[in-house]
Amino acid sequence: MVSKDEFRAAVGHFATGVTVITTVDDNGQPHSMTANSFTSVCLEPPVVLVCVAHGTNTFGFLEKSGRFGVNILRQEQEELGAYFAKRPEDREDGVEVSYSSGKDGVPYLDNSMVFLGCHVIGTHVYGDHTIFLGEVEEIQQYEAGQPLMFYRSRWYNPSSD
Ligand SMILES: Cc1cc2nc3c(=O)[nH]c(=O)nc-3n(C[C@H](O)[C@H](O)[C@H](O)COP(=O)(O)O)c2cc1C
Repeated sequence: MVSKDEFRAAVGHFATGVTVITTVDDNGQPHSMTANSFTSVCLEPPVVLVCVAHGTNTFGFLEKSGRFGVNILRQEQEELGAYFAKRPEDREDGVEVSYSSGKDGVPYLDNSMVFLGCHVIGTHVYGDHTIFLGEVEEIQQYEAGQPLMFYRSRWYNPSSD
């Protein structure tokens, strides 16, 4: 039997980019969560997925709204990545967050590299996570840069090795 710690340590060797998933809360306000389970699924139609833990606020907001945004972070946004990895009650003041509104009211983070506005077209529950499949309805691309990365449970900058 594979233990949770062993599994986490093993899959952590797969280096990823980092996204922030944006949704709206019950009051229609923007809500954000850091996620690296994002991947593209197919080109026609343009579909992506993200795996969301059932214990997160984002899970409930996504289930209700049926829409989400994927914001691909640049290296300079490490602070934002760390901020949105905390539960809202633990997010201290002092981090500047600026949102704009995409089509259908999906919020997006200003200054990320790419924003994908999606509507949920399918879900699959597995264990303590649900896989949300989203069809991409809107794309905004900003100035490219160095991507924020995550590797072995830490932020990772390949050019600083
Ligand atoms: C690099 C990184 C990637 C993460 N990826 C995911 C993810 O793909 N899915 C998920 O449910 N949580 C992920 N998390 C944890 C959430 O960001 C964290 O639970 C957050 O507090 C959820 O916020 P919420 O409860 O306000 O939605 C990740 C955390 C980090 C640091």
